[in-house]
Amino acid sequence: MNKSLFSENIALLKHRTTKTRNNKEIIKNLLDKYLVKDMNDWYKVNADLIITDPPFGIKFSGKSTNYHRNVNNVVNGYVEWSVSEYGEKIQQLLECIKRNLKKSGQALIFSGWNNSNIIHNKIIRFQGLTLRGKMYWTYNFAPVCRKKPSHNVYEIYWITKGNRWIYNNRCSTIHCQRGEPNLSTLNFKRDYKVNMPKYPTRLPFKLLQCLIEHFSNKNSLIFDPLCGSGMVGVASYMLERNFIMGDLNKNGKIVFKHLLDYYLNKKGLIQDQKLLTWWKK
Ligand SMILES: C[S@@+](CC[C@H](N)C(=O)[O-])C[C@H]1O[C@@H](n2cnc3c(N)ncnc32)[C@H](O)[C@@H]1O
Repeated sequence: MNKSLFSENIALLKHRTTKTRNNKEIIKNLLDKYLVKDMNDWYKVNADLIITDPPFGIKFSGKSTNYHRNVNNVVNGYVEWSVSEYGEKIQQLLECIKRNLKKSGQALIFSGWNNSNIIHNKIIRFQGLTLRGKMYWTYNFAPVCRKKPSHNVYEIYWITKGNRWIYNNRCSTIHCQRGEPNLSTLNFKRDYKVNMPKYPTRLPFKLLQCLIEHFSNKNSLIFDPLCGSGMVGVASYMLERNFIMGDLNKNGKIVFKHLLDYYLNKKGLIQDQKLLTWWKK
């Protein structure tokens, strides 16, 4: 090897080592933004945007055998809410949202179809938060479900604290690149990952990107008190937003660490693209 090629290789190696060291440091700092904490214990976060996805109230653990997946990869510890306590838990969640949003803040609450009526009724009766609209997220559940037909729509409640909020007309996902950029129906596939611990109900990156870009600005503070895998934090960081989040399940943090490694070290967004084309085959 000639001398200049040798020094180029050394420089490249040094660059990679520094990058890996920097990423390690970044991941360490990001992990501190995931707290193992009850949603009722958060005060004055002062968030611009809350994106949160409460348990479904359907005795869900993500370990059911009606999924085509290796349940051994799914982490334990998911805290479900029973139907009998569902209304009370949603009330607590709304109080958590009100306490932790800034005046011009807003929240997006996900809901499966089963107990959506409870969420809707609680929101419209709640003092201090206003229901502004509802969106639908449709996704690719049926192909991995043994029992058919299977339901593949989530509802997303959009609520605000005051009369002013952030909204950007366009996002950079497929949602605004093709056709009418309306926010009624969002069609995003789930980005299943292979060879890493899984969290039941993890939200896909592109869906979060669409919501984050429409409902927040760079450097906005995004909060998720029921964060599971921490995917809201991953997407927030990658889109240059600040975030803070928590979950009662400490195993969620293990998945979060793997996701950070995936997106920061392994060019996860490019891998996601490749995985998505698999559905078309
Ligand atoms: C539907 S999952 C959220 C999944 C998450 N959106 C993701 O992308 O991975 C709901 C989460 O709420 C958590 N949870 C339930 N009750 C809680 C509470 N009182 N405080 C904090 N987390 C709670 C569960 O452990 C579960 O991880």
